[in-house]
Amino acid sequence: MSDLGVKAKRDGQCIIVFKPSGKIIEVEQGTLLLDAARRAGVEVITPCGGFGRCGRCKVQVEMGEVARRQSAHLTQAEIDKGSALACMTVVKGDAIVYVEPKEKVKLAPPLETAAEKIALPIACEWQRNPRIRKYYLEVEPPTLADATNDLDRLRRELKLQHGVEKVSVSLPVVKNLATALRQDGWKVTTALEYDGDDQQARLIGVLSGDRSSTSWGVAVDIGTTTVVVYLVDLLTSKVVDAATAYNGQINAGDDVISRIIYSQRGDGLAQLQGMVVKTINDLLIELGGRNRVKLPEINEMVVAGNTTMTHLFLGINAKYIREEPYVPVTTHPPVVRAAELGVRINHEAGVYAFPSVGSYVGGDIVAGVLSSAMFQTDKLTLFIDVGTNGEIVLGSADWLMTCACSAGPAFEGAGVRDGMRAIPGAIEEIWINTESFEPTYRVMGNLPPQGICGSGLLSALAELFVSGVIDKGGRIRRELGTPRVRVGEHGAEYVVAWASETQDEHDIVLTEADINNLIRAKAAIYAGFSVLVNSVGLTMADVEQIYIAGGFGRHINIEKAIQIGLLPDMPWDRFKYLGNTSALGAYTALVCQDMRSVADEIAAKMTYLELSADNSFMNEYTSALFLPHTDMTAFPTVADLLENTREKLVLTRGSSVV
Ligand code: FES
Repeated sequence: MSDLGVKAKRDGQCIIVFKPSGKIIEVEQGTLLLDAARRAGVEVITPCGGFGRCGRCKVQVEMGEVARRQSAHLTQAEIDKGSALACMTVVKGDAIVYVEPKEKVKLAPPLETAAEKIALPIACEWQRNPRIRKYYLEVEPPTLADATNDLDRLRRELKLQHGVEKVSVSLPVVKNLATALRQDGWKVTTALEYDGDDQQARLIGVLSGDRSSTSWGVAVDIGTTTVVVYLVDLLTSKVVDAATAYNGQINAGDDVISRIIYSQRGDGLAQLQGMVVKTINDLLIELGGRNRVKLPEINEMVVAGNTTMTHLFLGINAKYIREEPYVPVTTHPPVVRAAELGVRINHEAGVYAFPSVGSYVGGDIVAGVLSSAMFQTDKLTLFIDVGTNGEIVLGSADWLMTCACSAGPAFEGAGVRDGMRAIPGAIEEIWINTESFEPTYRVMGNLPPQGICGSGLLSALAELFVSGVIDKGGRIRRELGTPRVRVGEHGAEYVVAWASETQDEHDIVLTEADINNLIRAKAAIYAGFSVLVNSVGLTMADVEQIYIAGGFGRHINIEKAIQIGLLPDMPWDRFKYLGNTSALGAYTALVCQDMRSVADEIAAKMTYLELSADNSFMNEYTSALFLPHTDMTAFPTVADLLENTREKLVLTRGSSVV
């Protein structure tokens, strides 16, 4: 019998009980705790893909014997209390392990844009021209005198009534035809998919009766972190509803590299494809239920995502995206049928994925450039999408240059000791008193804090710097004489919230290592657009407008982003937040099929600058590794602010801070 009193087990086997789910699994001694949890069907979040880099797969070993590999993410005090990283711990005997329930960490992110507010920023008169057209037909039933077969009879009517000369059709539609025609006395609605020629179409659905008063399509943004689905009425081009959720692939790692590594294990690619398709299907079910739309009546899907997300969604090998010379399998995926992917709309519905520029500038950025209309403007525009990667586009109607810089996931809360996603319980904004160094903060959902999300980290970095808690290099000034600054197990740290204020009674801190991670992330992004601007012989002052896109962009406080040197020091009216431009681009191509060739033109026009091959990138990056930058003349408003703060403190305390 096992020590846990569960049931007899074989030699060399261990029984692991997972709490609070009560799931039990028998595994071989030496099995990774993470694998044991997965086999038992217990979800453990693994933002770094199980490589011991993020410290987020922490579980509690309540009883039993395990062996932990050393990790900077666990303190001795935590180990003494039973904490273990699931990806760095193997089982040695029977054990009881507590895993934080998934619901707590997987709340759906808030939807960024209410459906009724969705509007295209494109200022032109493009004709709305969906690929799908529905026609109601009353078909003459066959007789002995006219025994034309069902399909030809339908084709005859389509030609007579709507001038469609050629109609192609697939077997699943043919199989359903006899029933659909006869169910309602030879009255049917056909769904036709056009491809630029009004006389040729593909028959993708035949429904009995008159269903021509509605026509549905969906636009999908597949983000590495979140998936957004817009339900669109193709007759009016209106977005009637939208839904969002975390991408189910999150369990396989937070960033694209972790996902690619996961996809190379066994049937990892199929698993990842299944995870994101399930996320999309769940959102479709939610939207269908809320709007009384039957999913088989959705006849088209347009998807925009980065190159890795697009590959994984389509089940294409993503391995070579991360291997030099970083070549994707395709930048222009073919249109596939929903049934091939397992998406639960009309099986014959076409699924169109946006073209990409290369491995690290994907369809989401092409969709962003399309929906922002920067490819039509005369003004020199900088488009920035900040996420795990920073993707940047510079240009105007005449030319477009692009690059991608690996900012790392710091601004998404990963790789930072008390970082977390932007969900209730996350500190989203921080202010630090310049005299007492005491912080005040705002928490999402007005709950006791649990950690700090990206916007909170950005604001913390700016406040720590401006208040003089850290210096230009990000070093914490140990001599300030406040209990907020102390030396912890991982070096110097600043206490943002004391244990007594927090949800799980631990001090929420920012360590010097966290601060360095954040500085490295902002430096990579700033260096990216500096190199891009310099590469065409311009300066930052020549940039007339800056478009900020993406989920994190929504939370960027422009003032604080300038203070830390993440964004260039420019008048605020040059910055414009555009929202989820990837989803907007997908929507644009859904309601207007001509936009697909425009997307192709944009992708072809974007010249990609490989930063790793550009010598000036390292210089720019090194210069940007300071707050806000080594070149203070590029940040005049920050220089003024620091000067004013210093003068004020000299007056009040008789000392200099900066
Ligand atoms: Fe275990 Fe990242 S440290 S998943």
